Amino acid sequence: MTPGVPDEMRAWVVREERHGDPVTAMKLETVPVPRPGVGEVLLRVKAAGVNYNHVWACRGKPVSISQLHPDEPLHIGGSDAAGVVAAVGPGVRYWKVGDEVITHPNQSCGQCAACNGLEPLSCMHQKAWGFETSWGSFGQYARVQAQQLLPRPKRLSWAEAACYGLKLFTAYRMLFVSADVKPRDRVLVWGASGGLGSYAIQLCRAVSAVPICVVSSAEKESYCRTLGAELFIDRNDFPYLSDPTPSAGPTDGMRQFRRELRALTGGEDPEIVFEHVGAQTFPTSLFVARRLGKVVICGATSGYQLTFDARYLWMHQKQIVGSHGCNQHDATRANALVEQGVIKPTLTRTFGFEHAALAHQQVLEDPTTHGSYAIVVD
Ligand SMILES: NC(=O)c1ccc[n+]([C@@H]2O[C@H](COP(=O)([O-])OP(=O)(O)OC[C@H]3O[C@@H](n4cnc5c(N)ncnc54)[C@H](OP(=O)(O)O)[C@@H]3O)[C@@H](O)[C@H]2O)c1
Repeated sequence: MTPGVPDEMRAWVVREERHGDPVTAMKLETVPVPRPGVGEVLLRVKAAGVNYNHVWACRGKPVSISQLHPDEPLHIGGSDAAGVVAAVGPGVRYWKVGDEVITHPNQSCGQCAACNGLEPLSCMHQKAWGFETSWGSFGQYARVQAQQLLPRPKRLSWAEAACYGLKLFTAYRMLFVSADVKPRDRVLVWGASGGLGSYAIQLCRAVSAVPICVVSSAEKESYCRTLGAELFIDRNDFPYLSDPTPSAGPTDGMRQFRRELRALTGGEDPEIVFEHVGAQTFPTSLFVARRLGKVVICGATSGYQLTFDARYLWMHQKQIVGSHGCNQHDATRANALVEQGVIKPTLTRTFGFEHAALAHQQVLEDPTTHGSYAIVVD
């Protein structure tokens, strides 16, 4: 190993026997520092980003960590890192010890036809680093594939640099690759003040598309205004957006929501609906999307068994587009927007390393949460 790299480190570990809320599931342990294999890099983590996926990992739902990576009994989560290259494995060409970097979270085998010509996200071995793999960023050292590395934007602090990768890169792919957003498109953004939403607003603004933001408080609306948003719907005014009996057609609540939306847009339905809430909102998303419009979805915070009235799908020729993470190209393009100052990291709170579990509990429990959180590791 490279001189100066210790044999052991402190890391926040989740083990299957303590699956539960983050404050129960996450424990600080002393574990071996991982060794970088072929094409891999060891990072000295300076800061780690907080993402909702680690709440899923802590709870072991919908899949437990033993199903995510059966060969690794311990789970060190964390899908966003900013840090310094501490060691490189055999075959690493473009990075060297001392480079300051951030990460994107997509891992793939790098050797199959999908990785070499089609799309690494369709690789049979594709995984979200720090969620479907261990040795993520919630330790003093993390092990990544070299292709995950991106240069750290120089003017950002470590915490700012760590807070945005997964969320921004996912939102970038959802809008620019999966939904093909165009200037003047209207984009309905659920959870607009949250991690994904706060970048969706900025990305829409960057191409002169119009974000229509769903929020749940005046404070969250004010926050979205600082990112350039102008049109808002408070979801507290529309408590019945899910549709327990799709055979009965759209509910009154869904029709009221569409009326409000049309009042904001001068009668136009959104070309794109930016979905990640799932069960509670999906029936409305499909209903309100414009004819020939797209519902682009990457998550399901409120439940992943979705219902919708399929007549609105085929008769109005809408599309439901799944989108997951990003590839290296998406991440590189999106990171350049940060480097250029077009996209600002939405860091709203920084936690010390010893408070990593608390940070995740906050994401789970606190309805006032907005923007992005980071954990300073060093
Ligand atoms: N597949 C991928 O690659 C990928 C990548 C990133 C994230 N995700 C997933 O996407 C989801 C969102 O991630 P995030 O980082 O943006 O989380 P977040 O920061 O916690 O934001 C989620 C937002 O959703 C809104 N929300 C929560 N429950 C809702 C409900 N019942 N109805 C309407 N809105 C609700 C909340 O906004 P208001 O209360 O203001 O409405 C909240 O701000 C998570 O499930 C995450 O796992 C997937």
